[in-house]
Amino acid sequence: MNDTPRLAVLGSGKGSNFVALQEAILAGRLNARIAVVVSDVPDAAILVRAAAFGLPTATLPPSPFRTKLGPEGEAALLEVLRTNKVDWVVLAGYMRVVKEPLLAAYPNRIINIHPSLLPAFKGLRAWEQALSAGAAETGCTVHFVNRDVDAGEIIAQQRVDILPGDTPETLHARIQIAEHELYPSALAKVLHRG
Ligand code: GRF
Repeated sequence: MNDTPRLAVLGSGKGSNFVALQEAILAGRLNARIAVVVSDVPDAAILVRAAAFGLPTATLPPSPFRTKLGPEGEAALLEVLRTNKVDWVVLAGYMRVVKEPLLAAYPNRIINIHPSLLPAFKGLRAWEQALSAGAAETGCTVHFVNRDVDAGEIIAQQRVDILPGDTPETLHARIQIAEHELYPSALAKVLHRG
């Protein structure tokens, strides 16, 4: 029996976390297989990067809403996940709120990475929130996804110092380096904890 967990990676943007995960898989640091990469943004770089690795990709139909999928998009997503026999849904820069029916279809099997030390700085551009708040440190968090945005059970966190002279761009770049270490190692733990 082949029990390698099959992942769907969902992203709306540049896909650097996706690349970190796929490289960890190829290096043998993460025992998993990316079965499909899905985006709600047809020209997202994550799709180009997935294709460059030879992985299957899918694009969701346009949504009538800005922050969530519409019914057609939800149905299309579930169909993609079913067709590709997906066990776990891994969000990597996916910019829409996850709702039913996905939550019910994958209970405790949807994971996200957020660019702050949750519960601090939920929501958009969390690195900018941390800078504006004058925090001394921030970081990133891997967590389970539930109906409350950025509030599911925390799996792992990594700290990042905020340095004098940091701009939103320099800080986000350092947080992303931490994300690329944290996400594969956190997933390696959670996928195989039985
Ligand atoms: C990351 O900073 C992640 O924490 C947030 O969105 C960003 C995605 O970056 N959820 P990328 O597309 O993986 O490069």
